[in-house]
Amino acid sequence: MSKKLIAGNWKMNGSLAANEALVQAMLAGIGQPSAEVALCAPAPYLAQLQALLQGSPIAWGSQDVSSHEQGAYTGEISVAMLKDFGCRYAIVGHSERRQYHGETDEVVATKAQRALSAGITPIVCVGETLAEREANETESVVKRQLAAVIHAVGHCITEIVVAYEPVWAIGTGKTATPEMAQAVHAVLRAQLAAATTNPKRVHILYGGSMNAANAASLLAQPDIDGGLIGGASLKAADFLQIVAAAG
Ligand code: G3P
Repeated sequence: MSKKLIAGNWKMNGSLAANEALVQAMLAGIGQPSAEVALCAPAPYLAQLQALLQGSPIAWGSQDVSSHEQGAYTGEISVAMLKDFGCRYAIVGHSERRQYHGETDEVVATKAQRALSAGITPIVCVGETLAEREANETESVVKRQLAAVIHAVGHCITEIVVAYEPVWAIGTGKTATPEMAQAVHAVLRAQLAAATTNPKRVHILYGGSMNAANAASLLAQPDIDGGLIGGASLKAADFLQIVAAAG
């Protein structure tokens, strides 16, 4: 594994003014990070991020992509459009989209494939609900979700990023312990090892209430290659502390 990856997911937050202040504060404090860093913003702000981040150590990306190439899909955004704005990453299959938009494993896999076809790195989210964890279904759920993507992208599997986001830890402050997270990351790594001879090339990020206080202990785990950060990515100081912990 080369560098760890810390990606911020702003979700449906921000404004032109707030983004400017937040990004300028990040740029003022990021220096030359030892980790790869990215921010995934709502689509209306991608032009702003491209202007602000061009030439900086921070990449940018989207929070979704259409599974279609182009055409009569009102409201959707194609990978070609994201390329127009220099996106390097695209989150696909976030649990909030699986929950609120009924995204299936197959749709998520197609989105990942679509992103790769345009040279955009998909950050593929997998994770169990509290009910699934309590039913001891965590391993079967995340393996099922990842299997669909492995099947769809084939030998390009080493070009994706995976994010393990236990749904019960997202936005709740109830972070998985480093040991709990590592256990699931190890399952995902083993699954990747069955699909490629180079499983360590795939970043497996942890997401779910990672913050400045717990980042170091999570990132010290052997199969946690970075973080997908929600709330803490909206605060420059917190996000920069997480980036520093990944160094
Ligand atoms: O995609 C990252 C997000 O789901 C995690 O959110 O606020 O728990 O860091 P948060």
